[in-house]
Amino acid sequence: TRGASFIPPLEEFNTEEKRANPFPILKTLRENTPLRFDETYGTWDAFLYEDCVRILKDPKTFSSNFNRDNTNTENIITVDPPRHQDFRELVNGVFTPKAVADVAPRIYEILNFLLDAVQEQGRMNTVYDVAAPLPVMVIAELLGIPTTDRLYFKELSDTLVTGVTDSSEETYKRVQAQRLHARDTLNDYFRQHLQMRKEQPTEDLISVLWYANAEKQVLDEDQILRFLTTLLVAGHETTTNLITAMVRVLSEQPQFQERLLEEPHLIPGFVEETLRFYPSVPRLTRRATMDVELRGQVIREGQLVNVWMASANRDGAKFAHPDVFDPTRHPNAHITFGFGNHFCLGAPLARLEAQIALETILRRLGNIALVEGTKIEPTPYPLFTAVKEYPVTFEGRSI
Ligand code: HEM
Repeated sequence: TRGASFIPPLEEFNTEEKRANPFPILKTLRENTPLRFDETYGTWDAFLYEDCVRILKDPKTFSSNFNRDNTNTENIITVDPPRHQDFRELVNGVFTPKAVADVAPRIYEILNFLLDAVQEQGRMNTVYDVAAPLPVMVIAELLGIPTTDRLYFKELSDTLVTGVTDSSEETYKRVQAQRLHARDTLNDYFRQHLQMRKEQPTEDLISVLWYANAEKQVLDEDQILRFLTTLLVAGHETTTNLITAMVRVLSEQPQFQERLLEEPHLIPGFVEETLRFYPSVPRLTRRATMDVELRGQVIREGQLVNVWMASANRDGAKFAHPDVFDPTRHPNAHITFGFGNHFCLGAPLARLEAQIALETILRRLGNIALVEGTKIEPTPYPLFTAVKEYPVTFEGRSI
């Protein structure tokens, strides 16, 4: 059998065109079937903000652990409280806004390095030139692994997060085999680096995790290695998507380019609004641990529930004028980073990277515009609220 880790595509998004602009369809679903059971796959979809938050903040009823066919997969993302706390406590101090602020100078350097390579050309491929390399280089720095290995682990980490676009058993098996291979390769990679830290401690995340655990004794070595892989992978595509989405908004609504230069205090709000508007992660999944009633329907024990952030973030009951991009929106309670105990550990880092990226891009590139005739293609399911490529032209500013 396939196991419960297979997340079926929504029937409504069976064409690339619909995935390229999912928001009208999500609106229809939210209004007509706010909580619905998908007969074909036996899974639930929650589209309302209120329900999404209700589910995410109740891990007792809605568990993150739905890989029931494999017992050796304990991982920060898939464990429930109280065990989850063991994982969080090991790294809680590492990603606070204050702690990540120390890497700000390095983030500026990396961005300037990346923009130096394109500024003269007057055009760039947003994803490949800036949005993809930045998060990989930053997390590599934090982990203490050579940034020159980035292409190597970028490929592996892309394989790890590949979604299944069709539901055939063959596709699933093939993708799953590739994923397991990528996971083992990354584990071996980190094993070598860990070995060096055991011989000689350093100040990077690999050491922090290893020595914090040595004190608390909560994880075994394989779990540490998987944790490192998670840290490497979790922030890649998500931050790439956020940065690409910001450039997309700047070119779709060019008035913001001048406005942000004049009012730089709007930059953090612009980042938050991009997170709400074009969420890097469109949905999360939970498994019901017991029968539970919601909106007059009964979700049965064992059934999976998709929590649609891409819909919740545009729910008019929570956000005024939800389809208007407004960097002054306050408060902006989007749930793109999740909600509750699993709230994104890397959120302060992602926000910092995005703010510095936006500031640096605006300072160096003027008149950013999408290359004419570009067809916007969504990334493969399940990350379809992001785009594969976003080529733009600009006028380099003298700096
Ligand atoms: C968890 C989104 C960047 C590390 C999560 C979750 C979401 C998310 C939705 C919750 C998963 C769940 O509840 O099942 C994002 C977005 C990002 C981003 C939208 C960028 C725009 C990062 C970065 C890191 C990171 C840069 C880097 C280190 C993690 C980790 C978890 C997590 C370790 C698991 C936390 C836990 O289970 O307790 N992220 N993330 N994320 N994120 Fe991020």
